[in-house]
Amino acid sequence: MSTANRLHDAIAELAGFNDDPAAGGITREVYTPTYRAALDRVAVWMREAGLDVRLDAVGNLFGRWAGTDPGAPLVLTGSHVDTTLNAGRYDGVLGVLGAIEAVHMLRSDGVSPRRSLELVAWAGEEPRFGTGCVGSRAAAGHLERADLDRLCDRDGISMAGALRGAGLDPDRLADARIDPATVHALVELHIEQGAVLESGGQSIGVVTAIAAPHDLRLTLRGAATHAGATPMHLRRDALAGAAEAMIELERLVRASPSGTTVGTVGVVRVRPGAINVVPGEVELDVDIRDSDLAARAGVVKALLTAAKELAARRGLELEATPIVEDAPVTCEPRVVEAVEAAALALDLPCRRMASGAYHDAMVMGSRVPIGMIFVPSAGGISHHPDEHTEPENLERGAHVLAGTLARLAE
Ligand code: GLV
Ligand code: MN
Ligand code: MN
Repeated sequence: MSTANRLHDAIAELAGFNDDPAAGGITREVYTPTYRAALDRVAVWMREAGLDVRLDAVGNLFGRWAGTDPGAPLVLTGSHVDTTLNAGRYDGVLGVLGAIEAVHMLRSDGVSPRRSLELVAWAGEEPRFGTGCVGSRAAAGHLERADLDRLCDRDGISMAGALRGAGLDPDRLADARIDPATVHALVELHIEQGAVLESGGQSIGVVTAIAAPHDLRLTLRGAATHAGATPMHLRRDALAGAAEAMIELERLVRASPSGTTVGTVGVVRVRPGAINVVPGEVELDVDIRDSDLAARAGVVKALLTAAKELAARRGLELEATPIVEDAPVTCEPRVVEAVEAAALALDLPCRRMASGAYHDAMVMGSRVPIGMIFVPSAGGISHHPDEHTEPENLERGAHVLAGTLARLAE
């Protein structure tokens, strides 16, 4: 089958593994039966590409092509096939299916890599358990056994429970660790999820740095009193305080000196949540990102100061709970150069750029040399059913990945 058809057919088929088709997008959260079925399908495609397949203790799926020097540190490539809620069909999926396609291309070009190539579909890049990238975190040694009980999804199911439900053993977490000395380089192909490439007319992004999130939960507690009987001056309205905190976050982020800080409140929980009760308790899940660590830290600190001040002024209690604090990563020059050389060899216009989204490569970048390849996202839309990348750009991404792997595996 031609490259184009195999890749597009596989992406379309994987999109059918969906727990909420009525919503219009794709919902395929890690460790669900639907996710497992999708992963089993990916394993079949890996085997068809001649790879030796194994599943590790946290459900990371690997496919190995042994090099002519199997003892040499290997080249790792992949992404994820879980989705956030009501998502698109390309986020993560391209990096896994594009890698399988890259293997087909290298084989048909008669390439015989010196270093082994290992493909991976990391488990749980999307934050089902509040924290994203749980599979790569386990591989990087950034997850402890206690974290698996602590990390819970929106229904209160712990990651340990979800692992057991998926037939995996949380007590084997340490087996998922990857010894960094065994990895020469990691490269991840991904859709851009922003509009930089599209607006610049380039088809390939050569990622030089990945911004990282500092996520925290702000809980504001006031008094859940009668909405009709409580005069305005006697209220302690937790949601009005939370609204002020959100506006303050937006102001602080816009004023951040790096010019690259972003801040989002993506989850608001209001209790009791009745129209005739003053909100007594509100949780805000706050996500602040930058590739400039000092600028990000400045916004977090100023937000906490502002939240304390407004809570005191409004008679609210404030609690700040850490969720995750990742370090931004700089891509390895030799991986960046390999990506650029692969794109230029194909005459594809490319540009160097930073990634605003996080990726498994960011987590693994704390341990091993990494790089990333981006392809354009139409309209910069992602984490949305309308996420789209033109078919020829998907193919270009797989071609550039193949060229990059061939260079890195020499
Ligand atoms: C990844 O999904 C992110 O939120 O950046
Ligand atoms: Mn995503
Ligand atoms: Mn992704």
